[in-house]
Amino acid sequence: MRAVFIAALALAAAPAIAQDVQGRNLASGCAICHGTEGRVVPGKSPLIPLAGLPSDHIATQMRAFRDGKRPATVMHQIAKGYTDAEINAMAAWYAAQKR
Ligand code: HEC
Repeated sequence: MRAVFIAALALAAAPAIAQDVQGRNLASGCAICHGTEGRVVPGKSPLIPLAGLPSDHIATQMRAFRDGKRPATVMHQIAKGYTDAEINAMAAWYAAQKR
């Protein structure tokens, strides 16, 4: 019984873990401009911190860039490369990082 319960728990957690890993992997391409794990180190170049921002905000902004609703210098180009699921995974991952 206990083993069944643990197996069910593991199954329930698997999608969340998979999304977390996918989010982190995808977000590695953003680090050069948004900092490692979305954090800005004072005195070093990365510009706009994303760590700890609400995932809703990040996902909404990404979709706005992608769909041409928010003017941008670079993000409208970058955002075009990602599906909704990928955007959600990155947004969730950034939201979970410490500021
Ligand atoms: C080449 C540098 C660069 C890269 C790479 C980059 N960004 Fe950006 N990002 C910017 C700049 C610059 C802005 C400000 C908007 C603009 O001018 O494009 C921005 C803005 C944003 C914002 C809006 C923040 C806010 O609070 O309004 C989000 C969200 C974002 N980027 C997410 C991402 C994600 C996710 C990735 C990786 C897939 C990424 N960015 C990759 C430069 C970059």
